[in-house]
Amino acid sequence: AAERPLAGKRAVVTSGPTREAIDPVRYISNHSSGKQGHAIASALAALGAEVTLVSGPVSIADPPGVTTVHVDSADQMLAACLAAGRIDIAVCAAAVADWKAARPAGSKIKKKAGMAPPSIELTPNPDILATLSKPGPQRPALVVGFAAETENLVANAIDKRQRKGCDWIVANDVSPAVGTFGSERNTVHLISASGVEDWPTLAKGEVAMRLAGRIALHFGRPTKA
Ligand code: PMT
Repeated sequence: AAERPLAGKRAVVTSGPTREAIDPVRYISNHSSGKQGHAIASALAALGAEVTLVSGPVSIADPPGVTTVHVDSADQMLAACLAAGRIDIAVCAAAVADWKAARPAGSKIKKKAGMAPPSIELTPNPDILATLSKPGPQRPALVVGFAAETENLVANAIDKRQRKGCDWIVANDVSPAVGTFGSERNTVHLISASGVEDWPTLAKGEVAMRLAGRIALHFGRPTKA
């Protein structure tokens, strides 16, 4: 049992970018590779949790031992998270587009000689982390978000934890100079109600294993050291 401390727990992990259609051939997205989120799904499964990974479009493989649901848009990602039903643990590592096109065109927007560039009206996407964090009987016992920041990392992340209503926030610097998007390593700060913990720079798999270990501890089931 000590090797599978999360046996009997159900988890949802979001990972990767979302893709928001402008027209049938163009979209708004970002540079998330899914490496961090997929590693967390694997680490939770390795500790015995039953894991649903809801992934945006990525080029990495589905992790073994995990149920992977593939989605494109934020709306689809939210629907897939809710379709997973009662869960104990949610980890939102996806880089969800904050905005989508208000009215995606039904056919390819044609470029015509002399025409002014079209403007795209944006509208907010649903906030998946905030939705999963809403108090109520269906709320997972533990909701973990990420904060991707390029300045005032810890202060912004502390603020984000409160605004979104999640229990923990994993803060990481996504400035191009740091290169968190797509790389193999990550330097994070784990923020909870009891304070801020600075972790050393680790491989994304190691960040995932540490986080899964902390989650097991939260449920009173320490992993064997
Ligand atoms: O995929 P990799 O290349 O490995 O890179 C990993 C990562 C940098 C993408 C990852 O570690 C990370 O930081 N993920 C969160 C990215 C993000 O969108 O952060 P944010 O600060 O904009 O959002 C805060 C939190 O709200 C996140 O948990 C996010 O998943 C969630 N969110 C945001 C908007 C929205 N509409 N719905 C959400 O659920």
